[in-house]
Amino acid sequence: MRIIVTGSAGFIGFYVCKILLSQGHEVLGFDSFNDYYDVELKKARHDILKQHSNFIEKIAKLEDDNIFIEEARTFKPEIIIHLAAQAGVRYSLENPRAYIDANVIGTFNVMEAARENNIKHLLFSSTSSAYGANKKMPFAENDKADTPLTIYAATKRAGEAMLHAYSYAHKIPVTAFRFFTVYGPWGRPDMALFKFVKNIIENKPIDVYNGGNMVRDFTYVEDLANIVCTLIDKIPQTGIEVCGNDSISSVAPWRLVNIGRGEPILLNDFITQIENCLGKKAIRNELPIQTGDVSATSADTSLCNALVGSTPSTSYKDGVKAFCDWYLDFYMPKI
Ligand SMILES: NC(=O)c1ccc[n+]([C@@H]2O[C@H](COP(=O)([O-])OP(=O)(O)OC[C@H]3O[C@@H](n4cnc5c(N)ncnc54)[C@H](O)[C@@H]3O)[C@@H](O)[C@H]2O)c1
Repeated sequence: MRIIVTGSAGFIGFYVCKILLSQGHEVLGFDSFNDYYDVELKKARHDILKQHSNFIEKIAKLEDDNIFIEEARTFKPEIIIHLAAQAGVRYSLENPRAYIDANVIGTFNVMEAARENNIKHLLFSSTSSAYGANKKMPFAENDKADTPLTIYAATKRAGEAMLHAYSYAHKIPVTAFRFFTVYGPWGRPDMALFKFVKNIIENKPIDVYNGGNMVRDFTYVEDLANIVCTLIDKIPQTGIEVCGNDSISSVAPWRLVNIGRGEPILLNDFITQIENCLGKKAIRNELPIQTGDVSATSADTSLCNALVGSTPSTSYKDGVKAFCDWYLDFYMPKI
């Protein structure tokens, strides 16, 4: 199939593109290579993708003029997987406008391209942060999500809602994912695992919020990317439920799916596993919980399981080890 992946130079997009290319699909990877974090890491990911003859690279911003719409007009995608976004909970306090531009205006341009090309399925990455101040655990897709705590979460909720409107008005099948803390090799330098490993290696302190007493539903990237690719063929049909707690809309072919491991891990246990893998103790800089951060995330994975017959299964111990091995190999290769 002809598939556009936005955010293809990003952490998750890179894995999704690799799977699609290995399955023989033609992939247009669209990414701005923005400098939110190390651009060299994004280039290195795309360099690997460019080794496949079925990969086309396009570097541009989603929100700029009609570039994305014109690219789509030429490429004629059957599927769009929209992963590009200004991500990060903490940066949203510093630069909120970046979230409006990329996540609201950028997503609107993707919707327009989807409408114009009459695509079979539009898949969109939202976030567990959409559950905001919800207290009921685990978070389930049909729970209310009306209390976003950051502009990041608010723009992702806006994306879910905008897509519902287009799904209804133009009969575009949409699956919106809520990803739960994704980690693994090639991971993002702004995320905790990367910062912890880097600082421990460099004998610098690591910032630990709330005494490390936070639980996160850490989800291994390869597990998640495989589920995203499997869901391409699970095209939502208005009102047709696959299980008792399906989030399928009653008026549009639109569905929300949590992708998380469903087994939250205490941050302190995560840190201990990094120390074990690196053979070195962390120097801890203890800090209070940050504005916009929540003390726990936990995914209800039953809908994901009903749709694809599996949920992310890699243990955090294996996942952290894989990350540490990659980090040492990529940043400190033995000559
Ligand atoms: N990693 C996680 O834990 C996590 C959790 C929840 C949701 N998500 C969502 O999953 C998606 C992928 O996340 P990721 O971790 O791979 O992030 P990432 O930052 O590594 O990837 C996003 C990519 O999008 C590109 N991009 C950003 N703004 C753009 C724009 N305006 N136009 C074109 N390209 C643009 C960036 O250059 C980057 O390569 C995002 O939508 C993110 O919000 C990620």
